[in-house]
Amino acid sequence: MKTRITELFGIQYPIIQGGMHFVGLAELAAAVSNAGGLGIITGLTQKTPEALAAEIARCRTMTDKPFGVNLTFIPSVTSPDYPGYVRAIVEGGVKIVETAGNNPQKWLPGLHEACVKVIHKCTSVRHALKAQAIGCDAVSVNGFECGGHPGEDDMPNFILLPRAAEELDIPFVASGGMADGHSLAAALALGAEGVNMGTRFIATKEAPVHENVKQAIVQASELDTRLVMRQLRNTERVLANAAVERLLVKEKELGASIKFEDIIEEVAGVYPRIMKSGEMDAGAWSCGMVAGLIHDIPTVKELIERIVAEARQIIGKRLAAML
Ligand SMILES: Cc1cc2nc3c(=O)[nH]c(=O)nc-3n(C[C@H](O)[C@H](O)[C@H](O)COP(=O)(O)O)c2cc1C
Repeated sequence: MKTRITELFGIQYPIIQGGMHFVGLAELAAAVSNAGGLGIITGLTQKTPEALAAEIARCRTMTDKPFGVNLTFIPSVTSPDYPGYVRAIVEGGVKIVETAGNNPQKWLPGLHEACVKVIHKCTSVRHALKAQAIGCDAVSVNGFECGGHPGEDDMPNFILLPRAAEELDIPFVASGGMADGHSLAAALALGAEGVNMGTRFIATKEAPVHENVKQAIVQASELDTRLVMRQLRNTERVLANAAVERLLVKEKELGASIKFEDIIEEVAGVYPRIMKSGEMDAGAWSCGMVAGLIHDIPTVKELIERIVAEARQIIGKRLAAML
């Protein structure tokens, strides 16, 4: 397949694995890149820039294909050592960065000087236009369906993607709700040049997470996610579990007066407990509505080849026959 995204990143298929906290380790990133997609290591899962440098080096031993690093700019009291992480990326020879969470303008000159391409993930056309204006090379347009942070506009991809196509000149991929060849064909039809997937890639053999997490995604239906932290304007789509139901009760009871400290037990330090130890009720963890479309745990290669074959069949046969 050839799109502006495969050309920009030097990959075989326009399928990107979005950064995922405690999931986007070298094993998954390398598996996705080896299968012809673009794998991404999640920068902040590595506690220090030195640890990220080591993870990049580890990934290099597993693949000679291009892979990227996700840099998520999070609101926090003590900011992570972003200059150190950027240095680890540049010195590690990584040529693709996925930014998310906040405007990446400050980091673009340094990254571009090192010939690093930047794809910024955003949840609205106005933020996508801003990313284009400041010089990002591409954007990942993230609809309301997505696992993780869908923003506050609640705009599903059936509207968001064609709106992005109307406005943007730089290439964009569809993110949120993408799982199979139907998604890829639809994303291309709506104006995107590829897809970005999160939740789907967790339920694969190579994803370095506890088996309980994969099974929870396979068992979940499209009705099993919840939106939390709305009142804090930090909305996150997560899989329903006992801790999330407790969190939602607190949100209802405390209303607009709720503070981060009120829900700290349900959201802080949750990811290692879920992803490494498989304690499925430990707290709130991101998961997309697309869980309803995930019924198996294939290898990454099987998944990517299936997506591409299905999309080819749909575009070349099913749709072509309708004309
Ligand atoms: C468990 C999990 C953790 C995630 N962590 C991050 C993260 O640290 N940074 C980020 O930019 N996006 C993160 N995301 C969002 C994904 O990169 C991707 O944009 C999203 O999952 C797409 O929606 P989908 O799950 O419907 O495919 C995460 C998603 C999941 C499911």
